[in-house]
Amino acid sequence: MPYEYVIIERDGEVGILTINRPKALNALNREVLVDLRKAIEELRDDDTVKVIIITGAGEKSFVAGADIGTMQPFGVQEARDWARLGQSVLTEIENLEKPVIAAVNGFALGGGCELALACDIRIASDQAKLGQPEVGLGILPGYGGTQRLPRLVGKGTAKRLIFTGEMIGAEEAREIGLVDMVVGADELMEAALKMARTIASKGQVAVRLAKIAINRGCDMDLASGIAYEAEVFAECFATEDQKEGMKAFLEKRKPRFTGK
Ligand code: CAA
Repeated sequence: MPYEYVIIERDGEVGILTINRPKALNALNREVLVDLRKAIEELRDDDTVKVIIITGAGEKSFVAGADIGTMQPFGVQEARDWARLGQSVLTEIENLEKPVIAAVNGFALGGGCELALACDIRIASDQAKLGQPEVGLGILPGYGGTQRLPRLVGKGTAKRLIFTGEMIGAEEAREIGLVDMVVGADELMEAALKMARTIASKGQVAVRLAKIAINRGCDMDLASGIAYEAEVFAECFATEDQKEGMKAFLEKRKPRFTGK
């Protein structure tokens, strides 16, 4: 399906979703959010796609935030609806039963940083700049940043970034755990594709259940999370992938997973 603000490409079993509004540094207005949701759902429903990469068009920006021009005239109720709209799209990405890698190719600010936070893994170009600059606009992060950022980097670091609105470079983002890997700008998509292909080569039921176990478990106390893990671990033993994966190991050959 063609979209105005999103480009979808497929590279084997990897779906690449590029947010495409480069003139505004890929800022998220309503139309971009609507296209993003539809594109995510298209990739979710495409059985040939096992892993998704999200990136931004152009060399400068991943996503420079929610669209400030759109928000400027908002009253309280419109602002609440706007936060809920963006939050629901990002939560859909977080809960997608396929791994999602953010390939952060430039500015990931405000809603852009929050989009990267909703992805499972973040790979950044060494040119990337990340941050939550909202307090400089008299607002606070509204697409999950006050919740996902402290869960990822810890409360103190999240407060420093959110209270100061400071932009940080890719290397510092890696040191604090905000991104997982930093590569040269020219190598970003290849690095993201390499990781995506590695994930796609594994047992997909196991990958899906691991994502669910980590996401759900992080919202539980440890004992409940551990108990939940035993359930999904056991579930793997009802799959063809477990039988094939272990048989292949014992026969000293590569597994041929079917995702069943
Ligand atoms: N919303 C709307 N337009 C934006 C935008 C945004 N978030 N970010 C950039 N743009 C537009 C600029 O207005 C400009 O448009 P024009 O050419 O029509 O003037 C174009 O993109 C290029 O931007 P700049 O000329 O500013 O480029 P620069 O290289 O000088 O600066 C930048 C780059 C530092 C990223 C700067 O654009 C900037 O500070 N952008 C805003 C970042 C921001 O505050 N993001 C948070 C938004 S609030 C939010 O996201 C709330 C939430 O949590 C839901």
